[in-house]
Amino acid sequence: MLDLNLIGTIGSSRSKSVSLCHRILALLPLALVGCDALLTEPPADADILDGPLPGLSAEELGVFALGDAAFERSFSPAEGLGPIFNNSACGGCHSGDGRGRPDNILVRIGVAPDFARALGGPQIQDRAIPGAKRETVPPGIPASRRLPPPVFGVGLIEAIRAETILDNADPNDDDGDGISGRPNWVTPADWVPYTEPGAGPGLQLGRFSRKGQVSTLLQQVAEAYHQDMGLTTDFLPVENTNPQGGLSTRAVDRVADPEVPRTEVEAVLEYIRMLAPPAPGELTETRAQGQQLFGSIGCAACHVPSLPTGPHRIGALDNTSVQLYSDLLLHDMGEGLEDRRPDGDASGREWRTAPLWGLRVMRDFLAGDAFLLHDGRAETVEEAILLHGGEAAAVREAYAALSAGDQAALLDFVGSR
Ligand code: HEC
Ligand code: HEC
Repeated sequence: MLDLNLIGTIGSSRSKSVSLCHRILALLPLALVGCDALLTEPPADADILDGPLPGLSAEELGVFALGDAAFERSFSPAEGLGPIFNNSACGGCHSGDGRGRPDNILVRIGVAPDFARALGGPQIQDRAIPGAKRETVPPGIPASRRLPPPVFGVGLIEAIRAETILDNADPNDDDGDGISGRPNWVTPADWVPYTEPGAGPGLQLGRFSRKGQVSTLLQQVAEAYHQDMGLTTDFLPVENTNPQGGLSTRAVDRVADPEVPRTEVEAVLEYIRMLAPPAPGELTETRAQGQQLFGSIGCAACHVPSLPTGPHRIGALDNTSVQLYSDLLLHDMGEGLEDRRPDGDASGREWRTAPLWGLRVMRDFLAGDAFLLHDGRAETVEEAILLHGGEAAAVREAYAALSAGDQAALLDFVGSR
C-alpha cells in the first residue's frame, strides 16, 4: 500500500505534489480521496484548469459540478465502453482539463473519407474491449498525430461572433505582410440542432480542434463520446466498429444504445462551456517588454491578443473580451509541421493558431513536462517558436535575430500566459 502521507512532502513545490498526487491516484483501483484532500494547501483558483468562469449563477454552478464529474467519469465495458475506443474518460486524455500527453495522442488517417472508413478511419481506435479488434494504421497511409488541446475557455471561443473572426481573415494576403489567415468552412453534422451556436444549414465557420474542423461544441462532445470512447448517445446512437474485423458488435458490447443519457452529454457540454482559462501571471517589467516585442516582431499577427464575444445566454460569456492570443484562423505552417491530412477546407500544412493560455501552469498538470504544437513535439515555448515555418517563417527569423535579453523577455511573457 502506498503511504499517502508522503505525498504532501515529496517535492518542494505544491505543483509537483499536485501532479504526483494525480499520478498516484491514477494507480489506485478506487480513488476514495481527492487530491485536494491530500494537499496541505489547495491550488489557488487562478492556478487550476477546471475552475468555473467568474460570475456564474447558483444554477449554472450546479450544472457545472454535474458536468465536472461526468467529464472525469471513467467508463467500463459493462457501461458501454467500446467495442473500439481510445480512452475511457474525457479527463483521461485532457489532463486536468488541459492539454494531453503524447500517450493520449489521437491518430487520424489522411485519405479520402470513404476509403478512410474502409480502413478504420478517419480516426484510429487503438484499443478494444475483449472480443473486439483494435485498429491499426494501414501501412503506407499518412497518419496525423493530434495531441489533445486544453478544453478550458472553449465557451469563450464559441461566444466570439463569426464576423469578428472573419474580420482578421486575409486569405489572399491583400495587405502583403506574408500572413494570410483563412477560415475553415465546414458542414456541421446533420444531427446538430440549429439552436446550437455554430450550427445551421450550409457551410459554417469551423473553430474547434487543431484544424478548426468543427463548428459546434455539441458535435465536438458527441463525437468524442462516440469516436474516442466508443459510447453511443442520442446524437450518435449506432456503435463505431472496426472494418478491419473482430467479432460482431452485438457479441462484444451488449449494452443497450444509447449508452450515455442525453442529460449527461448536455452536462459535459455546459461544463466545458463554463470552464475558465487560468489567469495569466503578473505582468512584470520584463514581461511587459516581452509583450511589446510579441507585437513588434509579428507574433500578434496570428496570435491576436484579444477578441470580443457577442451576445450569449450565459451571462459570464455575454459581450466580454477574451485574451485568447489567437485569430482562430488557419495558417500554412510549412512543410515541417505538415501532416498530409486535410480537414474540411484545411490543407495538410494548415493549422488553427493555437491559443496561448494556461501555459504558465501546464507543467503542473503534466508531471512537470510540457508538450506544445499539434502533436506535442515541442517541449518548450522556444522550441515551438523555432518550429514555426511557412507563413510564420519571417517572424521566426525575427525572433532568432533578437538579442538574448529580448528573447528571454519574450519567452518569459509567453510562458506567463
Ligand atoms: C483519446 C483521447 C481523447 C478523449 C477520450 C477525449 N478527447 Fe477531446 N480531443 C482529443 C484530441 C486529440 C483533440 C483534437 C482533435 C483534432 O484536432 O483533430 C480533442 C479536441 C477536443 C475539443 C476541442 C478543443 C479546442 O480547442 O478546439 C474539445 C472541446 C474536447 N476535445 C472535449 C472532449 C470531451 C468533452 C470529451 C469526453 C466526452 C473528450 N474531449 C474526450 C482527445 C481526446
Ligand atoms: C503565421 C501565423 C503565426 C505566427 C506569425 C506565429 N504563430 Fe505561433 N502558432 C501558429 C499556429 C498555426 C500554431 C499551431 C501549430 C501547430 O499546432 O502545430 C502556433 C503555435 C504556437 C505555440 C504552441 C502553443 C501550444 O499550445 O501548442 C506557441 C508557444 C507559439 N505559437 C508562439 C508564437 C510566438 C512567440 C510567435 C512570435 C515569435 C508566434 N507564435 C508566431 C501561428 C503563428
